[in-house]
Amino acid sequence: MKILGIETSCDDTTVAIVEDGRKVLSSAVATSAKIFAAYGGVIPEVAARSHLEAMLPTVHEAMNEANCTWDDIDAIAVTHTPGLLGSLLIGTLTARTLAILHNKPLYAVHHLKSHIYANWLKDGELPEFPLLSLVVSGGHTQIISMNTHNHFEIIGTTHDDAIGECFDKVAKILGLAYPGGPNITAAASGKFSYYTSDITIDGQRESKIADIEPGNPNRYKFPHPKVENLDFSFSGLKTAILRAIQKELGLPISSPSSELYKQLTPRQISDFAASFQKTAVDIVIEKLQAALIDHPAKSVVIAGGVSANQLLREETARRLGLPVFFPEAKYSGDNGAMVASAAYYEIESGVEPTDPYSLNIAPRSILS
Ligand code: KG4
Ligand code: ZN
Repeated sequence: MKILGIETSCDDTTVAIVEDGRKVLSSAVATSAKIFAAYGGVIPEVAARSHLEAMLPTVHEAMNEANCTWDDIDAIAVTHTPGLLGSLLIGTLTARTLAILHNKPLYAVHHLKSHIYANWLKDGELPEFPLLSLVVSGGHTQIISMNTHNHFEIIGTTHDDAIGECFDKVAKILGLAYPGGPNITAAASGKFSYYTSDITIDGQRESKIADIEPGNPNRYKFPHPKVENLDFSFSGLKTAILRAIQKELGLPISSPSSELYKQLTPRQISDFAASFQKTAVDIVIEKLQAALIDHPAKSVVIAGGVSANQLLREETARRLGLPVFFPEAKYSGDNGAMVASAAYYEIESGVEPTDPYSLNIAPRSILS
């Protein structure tokens, strides 16, 4: 069964064709992320406009790359929740129109479910049930228990910021480009680019390249949040880093967070990035270890944009004591292939298609 998956919940316009939930026949990606690099975050209206321009060319690219005609496609799947309103609208309207036009069944898929199923997009060994999934993205930080396909129980969630959001906000304070995750890792490695000026009205921003010794992850100590049960909190960590930077620079806590990066040396940026990254990774691993006590699992599945993080990959594999699965790097962020895979396992579980004339989006919703 060949499913065309469309994912537009944030800033990437992505379309893929996947056979039987696992074999990626094509994966086309257009992104507006570069526009947002210097701003430190996504501007929703700009993202929606970029989706509008990129949507149909990306569908055609995916069809061509897979050498498919519409007769070859068995179903269409699309992210309908959660995400940015304008971004979700472009993807779902496209999917609805294609489903009606070509008379294909339409499946509306929850974004977090898709991230988890990115782990099925490969040959070889698969995660075994029961499993625990750690979903770490720009919008979510959750531990989800799965006893079988398409069955989800959220056993831990964040009370405030998501971990990816925290990477992005800390990066912004340190003068590193959006998306923060990979740039924090680069800064921690000692080889990175950092901003030296504010952004001008025409979107220009000066930067310099650092090539120094790797950052010291133990130079700055940040407290782990005291959150009960298996829940998370990341806004306190972001504030702890802000205070540590102000202290390091001898500035009062009233000094604006948006100005600090100009006074930091590359050495300080690198050490702050390494210390923050270590703390964030330790926090999620400690929660996963606690979760495994009451929810015995045969495997752990890491999912979402932050699952690309190399330190998280190494430390979970080393410390959890059971098989840990990660998506291939190209499927750890948002992509249409994971949507198609999730839809395939929905169909296998007996889920009925949705009505293309009435499918709605929901910017917020809980996976159930
Ligand atoms: O799943 P995703 O692509 O979009 C959402 O559903 O939110 O996740 C994006 C998030 C961003 O916050 C980005 O900074 C983070 O994933 N990210 C990383 C890395 N690559 C992307 N965080 C840590 N380390 C990375 N290598
Ligand atoms: Zn995502």
